[in-house]
Amino acid sequence: MGWHVAVLGTGRWSEVHLRALTASPYCDRVTLAGRNRAAAAARAAEFPIVQHCVDDFCSVYDDPSIELVQICLPHHLHTEVAYDALQAGKHVICEKPAAIDMASFDRVVAKAEEVGRRYLVVMCQLYNPLVLRARELVDEGALGRVFLYVETGFSQHADSYRNPDDWRTRVALAGGGVLIDGGYHMVYKQLFLLGGVARPRWIMADASQLNVDPRGKPIEAIGEDYIAYTIGFDEPLRVVSSHAWTLAADAHPARRGFIAGSDATLELPTNVTEPLILRAADGTERIEDVPGPRSGADATHACLLDYLETLATNRELQNASVAAARSALAVIFGVYKSSSLRQRITL
Ligand SMILES: NC(=O)c1ccc[n+]([C@@H]2O[C@H](COP(=O)([O-])OP(=O)(O)OC[C@H]3O[C@@H](n4cnc5c(N)ncnc54)[C@H](OP(=O)(O)O)[C@@H]3O)[C@@H](O)[C@H]2O)c1
Repeated sequence: MGWHVAVLGTGRWSEVHLRALTASPYCDRVTLAGRNRAAAAARAAEFPIVQHCVDDFCSVYDDPSIELVQICLPHHLHTEVAYDALQAGKHVICEKPAAIDMASFDRVVAKAEEVGRRYLVVMCQLYNPLVLRARELVDEGALGRVFLYVETGFSQHADSYRNPDDWRTRVALAGGGVLIDGGYHMVYKQLFLLGGVARPRWIMADASQLNVDPRGKPIEAIGEDYIAYTIGFDEPLRVVSSHAWTLAADAHPARRGFIAGSDATLELPTNVTEPLILRAADGTERIEDVPGPRSGADATHACLLDYLETLATNRELQNASVAAARSALAVIFGVYKSSSLRQRITL
């Protein structure tokens, strides 16, 4: 018999979680919890696996039949809700980012250890087969000595970032701007791709905002619209990256990454249909196309299916570990600190 799972939040991404729970052999019923009753009822009508809707989270914590809680809420609620769910004896799968400050993240990890429950954070791009293949190529030495990784990213959610009432634009609710939201995926992916060859050592960053006060100063309550950062790894390796939101409805074509090595450059795909390209110094091109989930929604689906199996069979996660989630947060908070102090930050 499968588990009784609770999904907390009825917004956009709850659809992806409910789709994965419907497909998983390890779940046979869902309680959907959200303060917006109409949104919960609409989701329940879409997904028959939802057997019960509640409008408060305490009913979830108090229900002993619920084994697992999946958090699809604004960022400022992630650690508070994860902590309470663990305290109530549930396993937790939390959407990214794990936390908006490191102390709260560590508190949740400690609670999970104390109560003997698992705490998993969504890192869906680690389920994109091209990312896994790119890591293999770097580790195998196909690029020679890797010295530079350049990547630009654009977040969707243009409507959210243009709406000052949306939680995504408020630092207190989102923990920052575009970096801690869509940029989060770039950060853990960059750490993963280079994780076999070097360690991150320092960060230099700069951010800017469209919303400024009458003196031209950024408004503190609103997160950044654009951020650029350099991560210094063991010499001579650097990651040079930027992230922004864009008005383009589908911003994926604007994403591009290159990992440069002494023998070859690896071109990371510009959109979800393109392959990896390894270009050698002599001009030869090697195309690496691996089938599997690539888009955020498809990769999250694969990630959640694996997390459910991980919990049900009590095994360790291969790549998306709690340590990887912590490292990504350390870089993100380091980027914010560096851009606000205008100083190099040692990791
Ligand atoms: N892995 C990925 O690729 C990916 C992609 C997209 C999103 N996400 C993550 O998924 C999470 C949810 O994002 P989303 O796009 O689904 O956001 P969303 O559409 O804004 O939905 C947020 C949900 O949280 C509820 N909520 C907001 N404030 C609340 C409060 N104070 N107390 C209780 N409930 C509250 C909202 O209820 P109301 O409707 O009443 O406001 C809504 O149900 C975020 O962490 C986001 O970063 C991940």
